[in-house]
Amino acid sequence: MSASISGPGTAGPSISQRLREATSVAHQRAEHAPFIDDLMSGRLDSGDYQRLAVQLYFVYEALEAVGDGLADDPVAGAVVDDKLRRLPRLGADLASFGIDPRSCAPLPAVARYVEAIEATRDDPARFVAHHYTRYLGDLSGGQVVAHRMREHYGVDASALSFYSFDGIEKLKRYKDAYRARLDALPLDAAATERLVEEAIAAFDHNQAVFGDLDGADAA
Ligand code: HEM
Repeated sequence: MSASISGPGTAGPSISQRLREATSVAHQRAEHAPFIDDLMSGRLDSGDYQRLAVQLYFVYEALEAVGDGLADDPVAGAVVDDKLRRLPRLGADLASFGIDPRSCAPLPAVARYVEAIEATRDDPARFVAHHYTRYLGDLSGGQVVAHRMREHYGVDASALSFYSFDGIEKLKRYKDAYRARLDALPLDAAATERLVEEAIAAFDHNQAVFGDLDGADAA
């Protein structure tokens, strides 16, 4: 039987495989960024987690505004899903810490990250890269983050609603289905290339954000 489920113009590895491979080094770097490593190892405090959450607010504000604008697009619309929407949860988590993100400013790396996301308004393939990088991360490592924040810093579960996906029963199944949707995207080779390149850039943006949060030079 011949394989017939690959997307248009996709010979060789699937889009999801290419994304995972292309970002695996960047992923390892992100996991070991000093800010993340310190946060995950219990060397910081809940205030540091709150600083991260504030900055993520700006990121999701851009991601979800652009996603809403592209919801009917055949490429972006394949991954945009209301079950993933994080901004209201992040806003509620911040409110429970007594933080109004409107009174906070994005760090320089966050401002650049937001600009990069907003620049994908006209290029759904590149938008998907940002969508993949954040949401698949939240559905994966994000679950570990929530656990550690509770364990190390006593952050109440009710203030970590950002990491809970009530509308999704089985995270693994959802992630597998998400990857299948990526693999079926109607993208030609050039657009696929842009998607993969933008995912690497998205990881770099996250790395720079962690650098800014660490107070280190985010270059
Ligand atoms: C706190 C540090 C982190 C830990 C412990 C962690 C852990 C993990 C784990 C265990 C997986 C595999 C899940 C699976 O195969 O289903 C994963 C996947 C992923 N993570 Fe992370 N991660 C971390 C940080 C990040 C960061 C900072 C990002 C980007 C913003 C990120 C983005 C992703 C993505 C996109 C995937 C999906 C890979 C794929 O299957 O294509 N992760 N992470």
